[in-house]
Amino acid sequence: MFEYNAQLGDAVFDYCRDRLSHPVPLDFGSLVAVPEKDLEGLISPEGKDPELILKFFKEKLAPSVVSIDSPGFLAFIPNAPTKNSLLFDMVVACSGLNGTSWLESAGVVEAENQALAFLAQRAGMPAGSGGAFVSGGSMGNLASLTVGRDVGRANRPDVPAHLLRFAISADAHSSIGKALHVLGINALLVETDDHRFTRANLEKALANDDNPESVIGVVATSGTTNAGIIDDIEGLGSFAREHGLWYHVDGAYGGAAIFSATHGDLLAGLRHADSFVVDPHKWLFAPLDCAALIYRNPTVARKILAQEASYLDILHTGDDENYEWNPSDFAIHLSRRARGLPFWFSLVTNGVDAYETAIQVAIDLAERTAVMIGGMDHVELVRPVGLTVVLFRRKGWNEERYTLWSRQLLADQIAFVTPTKWEGETVARLAFLHPDTTDELVRQILESMRD
Ligand SMILES: Cc1ncc(COP(=O)(O)O)c(C=O)c1O
Repeated sequence: MFEYNAQLGDAVFDYCRDRLSHPVPLDFGSLVAVPEKDLEGLISPEGKDPELILKFFKEKLAPSVVSIDSPGFLAFIPNAPTKNSLLFDMVVACSGLNGTSWLESAGVVEAENQALAFLAQRAGMPAGSGGAFVSGGSMGNLASLTVGRDVGRANRPDVPAHLLRFAISADAHSSIGKALHVLGINALLVETDDHRFTRANLEKALANDDNPESVIGVVATSGTTNAGIIDDIEGLGSFAREHGLWYHVDGAYGGAAIFSATHGDLLAGLRHADSFVVDPHKWLFAPLDCAALIYRNPTVARKILAQEASYLDILHTGDDENYEWNPSDFAIHLSRRARGLPFWFSLVTNGVDAYETAIQVAIDLAERTAVMIGGMDHVELVRPVGLTVVLFRRKGWNEERYTLWSRQLLADQIAFVTPTKWEGETVARLAFLHPDTTDELVRQILESMRD
């Protein structure tokens, strides 16, 4: 099983070539589940013919997913990897790279760090900011808040550890609440005006709080998942700096707007961030799974997060001056795929201009969608467009109607659009990312909601 099977190799490369050279179909999703009997007996003592199993994958398994990189995938947060990033992902897969440590893959770590440093610089964070690529925004948030908690504990020795809190808004991503739960930290849930977390909201919440000293950090979101709202990144950041609070900005989805000509300024406050997460596997056109986790002061982060064991001492021989960068030191992980490399390769080969253009395409389409909705009588906007998210209602519909419509749209292979809730009401939600999503498709989706 360790011999190269050239025939199988050709079949696999043909499959990949075919997939890469055509527009990505939407595919059918869980509406076409694979019958259990088709999977029965596949795992056997003697093994099966690999080409038959590749065929089984192509015919049965591949069409049973909704392709997240299709221009018709407009649910949740889509993913639209560039062709170069996908090709290079295959190179990474075959390269025997362990992206854990400097010792094992120094050059690769340097390339990943080049990409991180570029993102940090575009975000306005100081030179020397850095971290690691992790599996996703959720892991990035967990690592950031772990560091923030430990720094906060040290800064507030008089506050009992179990009382420490982070100030967050109700629109923060669910992974923030989960991270706080894992860390045994509570939230000061700050009331916002129209779902946008501002400095004034925070000041008011702290002024009315019985124990403001227990608040050790603030979490802002640069692009909420449900509505694309960018919090007051500057105001919250300057407040956090003035009061010695850890400032984390979750830009897993919308952090990519640092590349936008129209929205980049709204993220200028990232210069205050102690930690920042932006996912190349969302709006920076890299394949899953890839999130950039960047600390303002990486030394502080690694002193908290680096794993220690006698067999790992060899990775940590230098002093702070001569530190050899181990990506594993910056999050809650050890072995790791060099998952930043496909993003790095794509950025280097396509150039920054191409990224700026592609990011703006989705923002502009969202704006045109709002205009389209305004011109139709059966639908209406629920709120102004947030980045690339459009929330709208089909007048007169209830949750059941939205669900049936969503399923039909997928079954008809038009698009994957799922409903959400806004202030208790079920509404429709379009999340744009893919530069190939067309106005015609959007119009078709809106028209499909007529009776
Ligand atoms: C703002 C925000 N934060 C965090 C996450 C979680 O990211 P991941 O799914 O990569 O763990 C998401 C996912 O959509 C998000 O939109």
